[in-house]
Amino acid sequence: MAWREPLVGHVLPKHIAVIMDGNGRWAHQRGLPRIQGHFQGRKAAKRCVQACVDLGIEALSMYAFSAENWRRPEDEVRGILDLLEAAIREETPELHDVEVRLTASGRLHELPESLQQTIAQSREETKHHKGLTLNLLINYGGRTEIVDAAKMVARKAMAGELDLDKLEEKGFSALMYSPELPDPDLVIRPGGELRISNFLLWELAYSEIVLMPVLWPDFNEHHLVEAILEYSHRQRRFGGLASDDARHLVMPE
Ligand code: FPP
Repeated sequence: MAWREPLVGHVLPKHIAVIMDGNGRWAHQRGLPRIQGHFQGRKAAKRCVQACVDLGIEALSMYAFSAENWRRPEDEVRGILDLLEAAIREETPELHDVEVRLTASGRLHELPESLQQTIAQSREETKHHKGLTLNLLINYGGRTEIVDAAKMVARKAMAGELDLDKLEEKGFSALMYSPELPDPDLVIRPGGELRISNFLLWELAYSEIVLMPVLWPDFNEHHLVEAILEYSHRQRRFGGLASDDARHLVMPE
């Protein structure tokens, strides 16, 4: 795997989060229907998961369907949701081979029943895997996640299960959709846009952001290496003075 070589000796992120953007433009450039861009986007997602497995990354979060994507034409919404369901169903056997644990974040209860079941089944079947955690964000919105956590705080406080005076950031983080995951170290946004698009608003407080001009369907392991190299050159201070990179893995030879 020669493509990994540029990373030898560099600091690797534990958790990478990706805003998969540019499927529609990729299709438009070729005179194809938008859904063809999403089909190619699925292939890019698979390449990205495999590359993270090969690098020994701990977690990968992928923005697959935002809470705002319902505003798209009905046939595109249906097409994306069907694609996600097929991808999870068809790829789960391969997730076993590479020890990937699948999880999902978002208002999953609002998704079509069959997609909910497919997610639940894959989650259950892969829950013991110790390799990469693949977190798919589906019907996810950063603001709705914070609202949902705030509602839970209120419910717990009313039930006498939570002392509001003792609630700090750590306790609030524990009420987010995927509290078991560390906050992302690196966010990659292909597609050329300079927005955060309601993505992991709470969790990205100190993440490094790398924007890339490549459209998502063209994204490959070399782009991932480029993004990680840029990340590894940045000095993370978390609001303090010294770098706190000691907690990160360094890519071995
Ligand atoms: C953005 O492209 C992409 C999405 C709306 C997410 C859908 C992603 C996939 C279907 C990839 C497959 C992923 C998995 C995990 C199987 P866009 O349509 O917003 O592009 P545009 O900005 O060019 O219009």
